[in-house]
Amino acid sequence: MSTVVYVPRDAAALALGAEQVAQAIAAQAQKSGLDVTIRRNGSRGLYWLEPLVEVATPQGRVAYGPVSVKDVAGLFAAGFLSGKAHALFLGATAQHPYLIRQNRLTFARVGVIDPVSISDYLAHGGFQGLQRALGMEPAQIVQCVTDSGLRGRGGAAFPTGIKWRTVLDTAATQKYITCNADEGDSGTYADRMLMEGDPYLLIEGMTIAALAVGATQGYIYLRAEYPHAHKILNEAIALAYQQHYLGAQLLGSAHRFDLEVRLGAGAYICGEETSMLESLEGRRGEVRVRPPLPAVKGLFGKPTVVNNVISLATVPTILQHGAAHYRDYGIGKSRGTLPIQLAGNLKRPGLVELAFGVSLRELLYDYGGGSASGRPLRAVQIGGPLGAYLPAQQFDTLIDYEALSAVGALLGHGGIVAFDDTVDMAHMARYAMEFCALESCGKCTPCRIGSTRGVEVIDRLLRGVDREAQLRQLESLCDTMTEGSLCGLGGMTPFPVRSAVKYFREDFLKPRPGIQGSQHARA
Ligand SMILES: Cc1cc2nc3c(=O)[nH]c(=O)nc-3n(C[C@H](O)[C@H](O)[C@H](O)COP(=O)(O)O)c2cc1C
Ligand code: SF4
Repeated sequence: MSTVVYVPRDAAALALGAEQVAQAIAAQAQKSGLDVTIRRNGSRGLYWLEPLVEVATPQGRVAYGPVSVKDVAGLFAAGFLSGKAHALFLGATAQHPYLIRQNRLTFARVGVIDPVSISDYLAHGGFQGLQRALGMEPAQIVQCVTDSGLRGRGGAAFPTGIKWRTVLDTAATQKYITCNADEGDSGTYADRMLMEGDPYLLIEGMTIAALAVGATQGYIYLRAEYPHAHKILNEAIALAYQQHYLGAQLLGSAHRFDLEVRLGAGAYICGEETSMLESLEGRRGEVRVRPPLPAVKGLFGKPTVVNNVISLATVPTILQHGAAHYRDYGIGKSRGTLPIQLAGNLKRPGLVELAFGVSLRELLYDYGGGSASGRPLRAVQIGGPLGAYLPAQQFDTLIDYEALSAVGALLGHGGIVAFDDTVDMAHMARYAMEFCALESCGKCTPCRIGSTRGVEVIDRLLRGVDREAQLRQLESLCDTMTEGSLCGLGGMTPFPVRSAVKYFREDFLKPRPGIQGSQHARA
């Protein structure tokens, strides 16, 4: 009998050598005359252990990692095909301490199944949410999503059911479902992992959304920097068409839903929903003035659902198990689970899906293992490049939209980037302004001009030119950007800047003998 060995085809695992490891395992098996089937799964999200190789044994799957090509011969010699001990042996995968305490609802299948096998997806509960949705009225589907308490996971945390209700209630001959897979936030990768590890979950979620609002066409707007996700999505979509999970007569019903992947234009602003729609229509990614909302007048002027990958991929679970099951996880107005992405200076970076309500401290130390450098953690940035920096004294803050808002932070897409005590927060504030200047679409003055002025003010601060006056000017600039920007890029850049000044003021005031202006020539 053939032994099944799993080697991820996830982009991060590939970057760490998974392809070469898969080839080495196949070559060694052939050389030894052993019958081995290599399955290419997604990543389990334990990134410090990638490439994580699993072997299916009669007692369940066991893991070894991080495996490199030079380890392969030794693994065979130790009997890894029977799950025997080896220096890289990690035990039963499902019992790994990083995984066992998680609440993997949306990521339940990621790393477990072959991403482009419909039969594997079905064997693990796939398409049950869609089957249920096919027996419901559109308004009932929308109500179910509303009752679950799901809020958009792309950043704005807007209730998904309410957005869908607007599209359902807007009469039109054509409606669209668009999936925002631009994933531009620093330190985030949940969308990519999901698309590479369980693409049918997203396809199922988009199909349910289409049934809920009466749409027949969908687009996944995928960032061009995700070539592996692109390939996997296209493979999965082609198979779904063949087996009537997409196209006309969905699962033998009278419903139709067509789906295509469109590649992004490589700009951060194309993740903002109205820029994304402009880009999908073939134009430069520039923000549209709202109202009208995309739900009323979106793609090609038609009512359009715009949702993040994780929001859409959460819907099948809600339909399958019911709104109450999902709603039972979480705290306050933050219901369900969140795939949190740990990144930066951490020993154990990776994906942790947990019910809302876990503290930053638990995430950084119990899961993340503290800093990779061994130095004390000084700050975290939550929610991407427009997110606030929080100091160690705020690490007991809970992952909860309202709790974070109370300390001047935002959850965004759930990315947490950790920094040790060598970080210079004045430089991080400058970086935020510089990022905004580089990525600004240029449509409104507070962002286009304000961000460039922001860099100049911080440069003067760093050179020690009348620091108190510069800090006042920076504050006033932040006010203008917050109040006057047309979208979140200019409007939220003050979050990292203000939080850096508020919690790490000493970094803005310390003497910098080496800096006379040359290091920051644009001042
Ligand atoms: C500058 C900027 C960049 C954004 N980038 C993304 C992104 O990459 N992915 C995403 O899903 N949402 C992004 N958003 C949020 C979207 O505008 C929108 O709120 C989201 O796609 C709606 O989906 P959701 O309700 O499921 O979260 C961005 C917003 C701004 C202001
Ligand atoms: S805030 Fe910046 S990115 Fe947004 S519309 Fe204005 S110029 Fe464009």
